[in-house]
Amino acid sequence: MNMISVFFLAWILNSGDAFSDFPSLISTNASLAVVIDKSFFDNKADYRDIVKNIYSFITAITREKIHMADIDVHIFEGTKGHNFRDFTVLLSVTSCYQMWSLHDAARKEELVHLAITDEDCPRLPDSEGVSIPLILPGKELSQIFFDMRSIDALLWNNVNILHDDTFDRDTIGRVTKALSTSLPNKKFNLVSRTLFTFKHANSERNRRYDIKNMLESFHVEQLGKCFLVIVTIDTAADVMEVAKSLNMALPDSQWLYIITDSVVRNSTNITSFADLLTEGSNVAFIYNVTDSDTYCNVSLKCYIQELVSALANALKMSLMTEIELYSHMTDEEFELIRLNKQERRQEILKSIKIQLIEDTFSTNGVCGKCLFWRFASAITWGNFFIHGKNVAHLIESGTWIPVLGANFTDVLFPHVMHGFRGINVPIATYHNPPWQTISLTNSGEKEYGGLLFDVVRYLGKKLNFTYNVLSPAINRTKFTRNATVANVVLTSTTREMPSQIIDMILEKKVLFAACAYTVNDHGRKQINFTLPIFMQTYSFLTAKPGQLSRALLFTAPFTKETWACLAASIIIMGPVLYLIHKYSPSSTKTSGLNSCWQCVWYIYGALLQQGGMYLPHSDSARLLVGVWWLVVMVLVATYSGSLVAFLTFPNTDTAILTVDDLIAHKNKLTWGFPNGSFLEEYLKNVEEEKYHILLERAIIHNATQEADMVEQIKMGKHVLIDWRSTLRFLMRSDLLLTKGCAFSLSTDEFMDEPIAMIIAKDSPYIKIINAELHRMHESGLMNKWIAEQIPVKDKCSDSFANQVVEERKVNVTDMQGIFFVLFMGVTGSIFLLCCEFCCHKRQVSKQRKLIQPFIP
Ligand SMILES: *[C@@H]1O[C@H](CO)[C@@H](O)[C@H](O)[C@H]1NC(C)=O
Ligand SMILES: *[C@@H]1O[C@H](CO)[C@@H](O)[C@H](O)[C@H]1NC(C)=O
Ligand SMILES: *[C@@H]1O[C@H](CO)[C@@H](O)[C@H](O)[C@H]1NC(C)=O
Ligand SMILES: *[C@@H]1O[C@H](CO)[C@@H](O)[C@H](O)[C@H]1NC(C)=O
Ligand SMILES: *[C@@H]1O[C@H](CO)[C@@H](O)[C@H](O)[C@H]1NC(C)=O
Ligand SMILES: *[C@@H]1O[C@H](CO)[C@@H](O)[C@H](O)[C@H]1NC(C)=O
Ligand SMILES: *[C@@H]1O[C@H](CO)[C@@H](O)[C@H](O)[C@H]1NC(C)=O
Ligand SMILES: *[C@@H]1O[C@H](CO)[C@@H](O)[C@H](O)[C@H]1NC(C)=O
Ligand SMILES: *[C@@H]1O[C@H](CO)[C@@H](O)[C@H](O)[C@H]1NC(C)=O
Ligand SMILES: *[C@@H]1O[C@H](CO)[C@@H](O)[C@H](O)[C@H]1NC(C)=O
Ligand SMILES: *[C@@H]1O[C@H](CO)[C@@H](O)[C@H](O)[C@H]1NC(C)=O
Ligand SMILES: *[C@@H]1O[C@H](CO)[C@@H](O)[C@H](O)[C@H]1NC(C)=O
Repeated sequence: MNMISVFFLAWILNSGDAFSDFPSLISTNASLAVVIDKSFFDNKADYRDIVKNIYSFITAITREKIHMADIDVHIFEGTKGHNFRDFTVLLSVTSCYQMWSLHDAARKEELVHLAITDEDCPRLPDSEGVSIPLILPGKELSQIFFDMRSIDALLWNNVNILHDDTFDRDTIGRVTKALSTSLPNKKFNLVSRTLFTFKHANSERNRRYDIKNMLESFHVEQLGKCFLVIVTIDTAADVMEVAKSLNMALPDSQWLYIITDSVVRNSTNITSFADLLTEGSNVAFIYNVTDSDTYCNVSLKCYIQELVSALANALKMSLMTEIELYSHMTDEEFELIRLNKQERRQEILKSIKIQLIEDTFSTNGVCGKCLFWRFASAITWGNFFIHGKNVAHLIESGTWIPVLGANFTDVLFPHVMHGFRGINVPIATYHNPPWQTISLTNSGEKEYGGLLFDVVRYLGKKLNFTYNVLSPAINRTKFTRNATVANVVLTSTTREMPSQIIDMILEKKVLFAACAYTVNDHGRKQINFTLPIFMQTYSFLTAKPGQLSRALLFTAPFTKETWACLAASIIIMGPVLYLIHKYSPSSTKTSGLNSCWQCVWYIYGALLQQGGMYLPHSDSARLLVGVWWLVVMVLVATYSGSLVAFLTFPNTDTAILTVDDLIAHKNKLTWGFPNGSFLEEYLKNVEEEKYHILLERAIIHNATQEADMVEQIKMGKHVLIDWRSTLRFLMRSDLLLTKGCAFSLSTDEFMDEPIAMIIAKDSPYIKIINAELHRMHESGLMNKWIAEQIPVKDKCSDSFANQVVEERKVNVTDMQGIFFVLFMGVTGSIFLLCCEFCCHKRQVSKQRKLIQPFIP
């Protein structure tokens, strides 16, 4: 006492106005508010007795426990409207509802809340107080569920409760309520629940029969996959057997077994259940391990005593640390460093809990020692692959005692929370770029890559496993390829799977095979496919159509019909002009229009914008010539405009871009696809006529013929049908680039070929793997990886685009046609010249023969 007084004096003298709003334990005695609710007691005598004695009861305990300081006790009457501002601790003995409303007040003032309340009451949060429900042995089941929910150990939003008729309605009703009422400090999570009762028949056979009947007609899709089975220990085994035989214990379902009579049956060791666990199931047990020999004293006084003495201990320890701290530093430092109210609350609560646990497990235990439950969780995922046989086992995951509730050392359903729990599972693969690749690092280790390993790595992160890869030695050329001519067409091989890989799956040596495999029916007989990773579409590759000959380019602007029309109009216009000119009354003899032939030349000259040298005198003929000039202007402008366009842009044949185009060219072209293609199967089964033609005329390539085939494609005589991505790869590879970008892909994409990973037929993990793959597709991750691993852009599509814009100069080949015409013209006129000479000579010699009369 003396020492404290000294400290106290020193405190008052030194710390002036630095006095904070809550005092240190050194300067002030801790204060305890006690609230006792009358309605909590069944009879008034008990209540009066408690109220009368509680003060002396508490002070007696504290005196005994803390010799140095004291606790100021203040007892409140009634439960409403109290101000707890100056208190350190609140001790309440009230009903559940009152406790929570008191707690609101206590929390505001950051009091340590110690509460004794009735059964089926959600506990106070760990950091704010300790609440002890008074539970009679045998009635604790519902409280266990309240406690599990209040620490978020059971996050179900639907539940199917299965129980046999050895449990009375009251027990089950209270459990159901514990699962579905909303908790005061939690967001309400709606729990839908369904109850199933079955008979507890005496013989094992009848029991199984009943359970099987019930579970067989179960609608998992509607009722959800969370099962709460409240049974006796022998029935638990039956339910497990039946669930196993009906294949209902899968990774996406959860089974929680409550075994109440494990003590009575002398079987608190539940390891025998491990044999009934199936690979990939989620099973947990809650079982009663109460020592039936210890006497259970569920008395209020006992709990008050336990709580108060724990509190006294805690305060004492807190005071000791403060004194210790104080002696080492100045007042200012102490003021800064000492715990504030909230921190002290944590410290006190922590020591109270430690004390309560000690009390519970001490040999001369106080009250509440009687009830003791354990939680056990099954570890079942991936065991098979590690040990080669199912060696599921159970781990202890927590305990439950009435005083402190549930204490979990691990999660109740470890696999639901942590997937495979970081274990190392074997998977199989082989080298098959770009799907899955195996390469050696500099240090000689194998490194795995490709699209499938992007997926596997992500899957490993999500399902919490690491993997070791088994890659069988495969030496068939089919599976080890490089991009030479002979092999290039096989780049799309996902249609074959090495038998070693299939064997590994069948022997269940691996969780799954990270190998791309086309989903096909004949594979389905042995194995199962995951959700498709990728959809391959088919296209075809054609040589880009060649440029047409440019010799007759100058004729190109007009079609044949236009040219014919033009020629006809010249030939007709000549005579018409001649006739109009001739018969016009006002016509004079103009040389140059005197014959039909001359008129034709005149019209032709006008067409070439040479103008007639002579204009007719009559208005009628002039009108005709004028109109002709107009026609000429339009014709010439059109022609020269088009000619420029034809000179600038290459004049190519139409490309073959759709299946219909291809079939239209069937007489000029052949087409084919690699042997063993999935396409063949598909085309056989498809309805449309054009695809039948496609199949009938297709050539099936052998691996050995490919060099030939590539040549044929280059020459534009053959069309290759394959995956779009393969064809892109081909176009990018150097093989086909020799001729520049002379290939085009069809715009038609026909038929999807799904590519998936493979997994054992009866693997329980198909669903969860598929769910993850689905999420990868939805989130767009898969598309990102595909874009990275299988590039879409190719060199040609870029350079083709550039080519069009490129400037183009007119060269001799473009002009050769018109020079040829000139040459013809020259030749023709020379020929005519010769003819004219001949004619002239003959005329001259004829005239010589005639005797000319001499006219002087
Ligand atoms: C604490 O309580 C004791 C005993 O009742 C008393 O002697 C002492 O003065 C109190 N101390 C303070 C700081 O109130
Ligand atoms: C747990 O076991 C104890 C001791 O055998 C028993 O008194 C109590 O009723 C059991 N609990 C339940 C819920 O059956
Ligand atoms: C449990 O074991 C005790 C002794 O260890 C024995 O007396 C009792 O008969 C057993 N009870 C059952 C149901 O086996
Ligand atoms: C439970 O029983 C198995 C044998 O059935 C034994 O190996 C194991 O040690 C026992 N566990 C406990 C905690 O007694
Ligand atoms: C139960 O606990 C109270 C309070 O500690 C005590 O008075 C009573 O004697 C105890 N009863 C038995 C049977 O031990
Ligand atoms: C929970 O259990 C562990 C191990 O059994 C123990 O160390 C710890 O103190 C317990 N915690 C609580 C709050 O009961
Ligand atoms: C993976 O499992 C381990 C072991 O259970 C666990 O500690 C870890 O938190 C888990 N990781 C994830 C991401 O769930
Ligand atoms: C690989 O080839 C060797 C000989 O070339 C043969 O003996 C061996 O069986 C082949 N292995 C496989 C898995 O095909
Ligand atoms: C690639 O193919 C050629 C010809 O088929 C072969 O000679 C060569 O060994 C192959 N290269 C590799 C790495 O397989
Ligand atoms: C396709 O390949 C198989 C062997 O894989 C072979 O038997 C068949 O003759 C081939 N078909 C053609 C048309 O080359
Ligand atoms: C493909 O090769 C197989 C043998 O390897 C042969 O029988 C078949 O005729 C070839 N097919 C063609 C289209 O050449
Ligand atoms: C393959 O898995 C799907 C679901 O993922 C399942 O519906 C189907 O029955 C399985 N096939 C076989 C043959 O097991």
